[in-house]
Order: sequence, then C-alpha cells, then structure tokens
Amino acid sequence: MPQDYVYDQGFAQERSRLAGIESLWDPGTHALLDELGIGPGWRCLEVGAGGGSLLEWMSGRGASVVAVDIDTRFIESLASDSIDVRRLDIRTDELAQGEFDLVHSRLVLEHLPDRRQIIQRLAAALRPGGCMVIEDYDWTGFGFEGAAVELERVTAAIMSFMQRSGFEPHYGRQVVADLAAAGLHEVRGEGRARVIDSGSPGFDFFRLSFESLRDAVVDAGLISTEDADAAAVRFSEDTRVLTPTMMAGIGRR
Ligand SMILES: C[S@@+](CC[C@H](N)C(=O)[O-])C[C@H]1O[C@@H](n2cnc3c(N)ncnc32)[C@H](O)[C@@H]1O
Repeated sequence: MPQDYVYDQGFAQERSRLAGIESLWDPGTHALLDELGIGPGWRCLEVGAGGGSLLEWMSGRGASVVAVDIDTRFIESLASDSIDVRRLDIRTDELAQGEFDLVHSRLVLEHLPDRRQIIQRLAAALRPGGCMVIEDYDWTGFGFEGAAVELERVTAAIMSFMQRSGFEPHYGRQVVADLAAAGLHEVRGEGRARVIDSGSPGFDFFRLSFESLRDAVVDAGLISTEDADAAAVRFSEDTRVLTPTMMAGIGRR
C-alpha cells in the first residue's frame, strides 16, 4: 500500500468507518452530481471508491463507472456491466485520456502530497466539456460539544500524525484554486457541514478513525496510552460533533 495513505487497510472495522463517511456525505454528493446532470450514457471515473456506495448510485442513474482504488476489497463484488473495478494507484498508474464525462473523488486527495499533479492527470482523463468534482475536508470548524479536552487532545495528535504523511487538513479550501491551476473552466466551490450526535451512523467515522489510528499515534509518542484510553471512554459516551466542512470543487474541461 502507498505510504501516503495513513489508514490501516487491515483495520477490522474499515468498512464501517467508510459507511460513516457515506452516511454523512452521500446525500450532498448525489445532489451535486444530479445538478451537473449525471444520467444515462455518462462515463464516470470514481477515484478512491472506498466502500462503493456511489458506484451503485451512479449506475442506478444510468451511468457507467470505472472505479479505481488501491484497495478494491469492498468494491469487487459490485463489478457489473456498468461498474468496472480496477485496482490502481492514482499517483502513478496510467489512466485513459480524454474519456470521462465526470471525474469524482472524495476524501482521497487530502491524503496525497502530490495532489496537484494528480488533479492535472485527472483533468487529462476528462473529455472536453467533462466535469471534475473533488470533495475534501476543511477541518477549521470541527469541534466536539462542550468541554471535551480528551477528545480535542486525541484529535490534535491524530492530525499531526496524519500530517507527517502529507495529509492536508485544510485541503478543502484549496481545491477550487487547484482546479483552476489545472486549466479547468467554470470553476466554483461550495461546502457543507453537519452537527451529529454519537448515535448517528456518521459518528462512526470519527470514532473508528480514532480506533484505527490510536496505536500508531501512541507508538509515535504523540499521545500517552492514558490519554488514548480517556478518549476511548469519551467516544463511548453521548456527545455531539460539528463535522469538518466537506468542500466540493467543481470545474469543467
Ligand atoms: C477516506 S476513503 C474515502 C472513500 C470514498 N471516496 C468515500 O468518500 O466514501 C479514501 C479511499 O482512497 C483510497 N486511496 C488512498 N490512496 C490511494 C491511491 N494512491 N490511489 C487510489 N486510491 C487511494 C483508499 O484505499 C480509500 O478507499
């Protein structure tokens, strides 16, 4: 697996972590793609397809999809006449040129330090007139409700751990500029955020991201075992979270 992507692909609850992302953000992504007119005949490239919920949705809209990921274990079973699954590293592996009506990626480029070059490669995969939609977080507004020192401490530790591998916690606010720099036209951006409680399926994204990385963050000396244990207790209690802002950058070739 590439070094840049910090999440442990062997984490037993990775599919549930991805389901947390899907429950938080799929409705907004659907709305964006519907607004762009996704429909029968569209050829889509889904980059870093993860758990694959968007593949089935695109296919349901009548589009065909090439789904790429370095880890295809959750999407192989979705392969069909309209869903072509390919195990591929988006940083280095070859992509079709000038072929797609839509290139979409969510919560992938923020992890990869060479994201600007990747956007240029993705832009070349679009047909003239095709659309690119890149969605990534801006963590500026993120926070837990009330006094949550244990959760804030572990969040800061996880952020610095991820940044060591090239993660950019504010990439969401840079996406539009990078689409413009790649020569796309009609570039624009928009953001959405949610306030959710710990009973919401989306809360699993935050809880399981912590579970997935906690040992690595302790081993890296960024937080003590005691602080990680205290955060685990807080994650199991009732709380609310203001999510990071999911920023979407949109542009046309
Ligand atoms: C946080 S998950 C997001 C999954 C999905 N896009 C979503 O929003 O539901 C990031 C995904 O990017 C994939 N990924 C990470 N680095 C990659 C690379 N270099 N090439 C292709 N996929 C990559 C991971 O395997 C993972 O499935």
